[in-house]
Amino acid sequence: MKKKSISILVFLLLHFTCADSDSVYETFLQCLTNHTNQTDHISNIVYIQNNSSYTSILRAYIRNARFNVSSTPKPLIIITPLQEPHVQAAVICSKQVGYQLKIRSGGHDFEGISYTSYNPFFILDMFNLRSISVNIDEESAWVGAGATLGELYYKIWEKSKVHGFPAGVCPTVGVGGHLSGGGYGNMLRKYGLSVDYVVDAKIVDVQGRILHRKAMGEDLFWAIRGGGGASFGAILSYKINLVTVPAKVTVFKIEKTLEENATDMVFRWQFVAPTTENNLFMRMFLQPVTGENNQTIRASIMAMYLGDSNTLVSLLAQDFPELGLKIENCIEMSWIDSALWWASLKTGTNNPPDALLDRKLDSAKFLKRKSDYVSKPIPKYSLNLLWKTMMELGKPELVFNAYGGRMNEIAASETPFPHRAGNLFKIQYSVNWEEAGTEIENNYISQMRSLHSFMTPLVSKNPRSAYFSYRDLDIGINHNDKDRYNEGKIYGEKYFKGNFDRLVKVKTMVDPQNFFRNEQSIPLLPSN
Ligand SMILES: Cc1cc2nc3c(=O)[nH]c(=O)nc-3n(C[C@H](O)[C@H](O)[C@H](O)COP(=O)(O)OP(=O)(O)OC[C@H]3O[C@@H](n4cnc5c(N)ncnc54)[C@H](O)[C@@H]3O)c2cc1C
Ligand SMILES: *[C@@H]1O[C@H](CO)[C@@H](O)[C@H](O)[C@H]1NC(C)=O
Ligand SMILES: *[C@@H]1O[C@H](CO)[C@@H](O)[C@H](O)[C@H]1NC(C)=O
Ligand SMILES: *[C@@H]1O[C@H](CO)[C@@H](O)[C@H](O)[C@H]1NC(C)=O
Ligand SMILES: *[C@@H]1O[C@H](CO)[C@@H](O)[C@H](O)[C@H]1NC(C)=O
Ligand SMILES: *[C@@H]1O[C@H](CO)[C@@H](O)[C@H](O)[C@H]1NC(C)=O
Ligand SMILES: *[C@@H]1O[C@H](CO)[C@@H](O)[C@H](O)[C@H]1NC(C)=O
Ligand SMILES: *[C@@H]1O[C@H](CO)[C@@H](O)[C@H](O)[C@H]1NC(C)=O
Repeated sequence: MKKKSISILVFLLLHFTCADSDSVYETFLQCLTNHTNQTDHISNIVYIQNNSSYTSILRAYIRNARFNVSSTPKPLIIITPLQEPHVQAAVICSKQVGYQLKIRSGGHDFEGISYTSYNPFFILDMFNLRSISVNIDEESAWVGAGATLGELYYKIWEKSKVHGFPAGVCPTVGVGGHLSGGGYGNMLRKYGLSVDYVVDAKIVDVQGRILHRKAMGEDLFWAIRGGGGASFGAILSYKINLVTVPAKVTVFKIEKTLEENATDMVFRWQFVAPTTENNLFMRMFLQPVTGENNQTIRASIMAMYLGDSNTLVSLLAQDFPELGLKIENCIEMSWIDSALWWASLKTGTNNPPDALLDRKLDSAKFLKRKSDYVSKPIPKYSLNLLWKTMMELGKPELVFNAYGGRMNEIAASETPFPHRAGNLFKIQYSVNWEEAGTEIENNYISQMRSLHSFMTPLVSKNPRSAYFSYRDLDIGINHNDKDRYNEGKIYGEKYFKGNFDRLVKVKTMVDPQNFFRNEQSIPLLPSN
């Protein structure tokens, strides 16, 4: 009986939504027109489902093919602002028509929550708002939310060969999500996170106002440097401080299988990588590989050294003999070339590094990610069990990212990102695949969950922590109704630990109606 009335209700709701979509569109357009200049022709940047460009606009920034299938919920409308007032109007008018507004910058959210939802929703797509202005005298830059990291690196390179920015290694990642969610890359140990260099921001709040740091206040400014933008407003741009980089940096990649004593190298990496010179970042990949008649694990170390190769080789000969680094393994290059190298793009052309500007529209693999933090070295006998587990499962891979260095010097409460001192490294679990299909997807995802469960005794606990920007809906979702605070606390404490409460207070203060919400947004205090 109860079930039946629920399905009738669902039917009525769906029916209502469909029948009503024309009038929602008309009202929304009217409202946008009312809130922008006539000369803006705002209707030209609003795409409704029946428009012939709707699908290509939607797909352009889908970065996970799991959310590019017919069953993926689609937005009724996509708005692609050309100017800041368009964002203000989009916020005001989405609120007026009662639709959820998903904000997308680069679209790299691992669970696609910037462009999907189970509620009727619109997408505010920020890709046009991507201006970058670099000021070398001030060693700073303003960067639009819709810019990519590759564009940012390129624009810095145009002005200076000895400046850079500490952020992610994938050039297509969007500034809007990356800088609001933490942001780390191969200068993490020297400089910390991207958010540690954010000095100002422009945000459209729930009332449609554009606020700078001064106007938004230090609490909100704190929150949008690691707590995620999407719980608080629509971020237009960030002002960042640049960092200095040497004219030449050194990179290397070394691979070893179990037969080549990879276990010794992996074991020792845990002691060296988080404690060595801050100029050195070593990322380690662990992959099951199948040979002709056998299976093994391949451990690969990719490194970035802010210095020359001779110094690096003698440093590691002493501290890390298990690696066996030789001068011929090292490549010296400019910082901008290293950005290409880390992204597996062609280096050393002396041409402008145009590949960093390639947005690779409408291309994605199927993928799933999870994360963990490790504060005690994993003993060799556990590594051997891990190899066995990974070979049995067959698909999931691990990436260990060394912490330490600058990360140890910044207090956990300085920004919402809490995983600082005390962590040796972060683990990323990853599976990528090419073939569509529910069965394949379920199989790979369940393999990854098994590996995550195998790791339980070896990683952080109470709470078992996770990196917010490695979005993982397995660790809890919010239905944004009566129980939203308790639901939010489950994933919120994993992502933000002791900073969760402050995020909740800021959220309650700046968005008391919970307009800016999603599957893992910061909830309001329970009394609201
Ligand atoms: C291939 C790949 C490589 C990656 N490499 C790294 C890495 O090296 N280091 C690292 O730290 N992370 C990395 N990530 C994770 C990445 O930092 C996050 O996925 C980040 O959120 C992506 O930002 P986006 O703008 O591209 O994503 P989107 O999907 O557009 O947004 C992500 C989240 O931020 C919100 N958001 C986006 N823009 C705004 C805005 N303007 N205002 C308010 N809210 C907004 C969205 O609503 C969503 O909740 C990687 C991800 C991928 C897919
Ligand atoms: C799409 O839908 C809108 C609103 O219902 C309508 O005004 C428009 O004519 C339709 N366009 C096409 C190409 O069907
Ligand atoms: C737009 O403005 C007109 C005139 O001020 C007003 O009558 C109308 O209700 C507004 N429409 C919307 C959707 O805001
Ligand atoms: C409209 O344009 C004028 C002049 O360019 C500008 O001053 C005003 O702020 C604009 N209004 C809106 C709502 O964009
Ligand atoms: C599709 O939408 C865009 C943006 O609003 C508009 O410029 C275009 O004319 C629309 N196309 C059709 C066929 O309606
Ligand atoms: C692996 O380690 C063993 C014991 O230390 C050593 O004898 C062997 O030469 C090493 N193998 C390789 C390929 O380095
Ligand atoms: C197993 O395969 C790997 C590569 O696939 C190879 O390097 C290794 O030597 C093989 N080991 C044995 C014991 O055959
Ligand atoms: C989405 O799927 C279509 C085919 O259905 C394909 O052409 C397109 O490239 C895919 N895009 C992404 C981002 O996966």
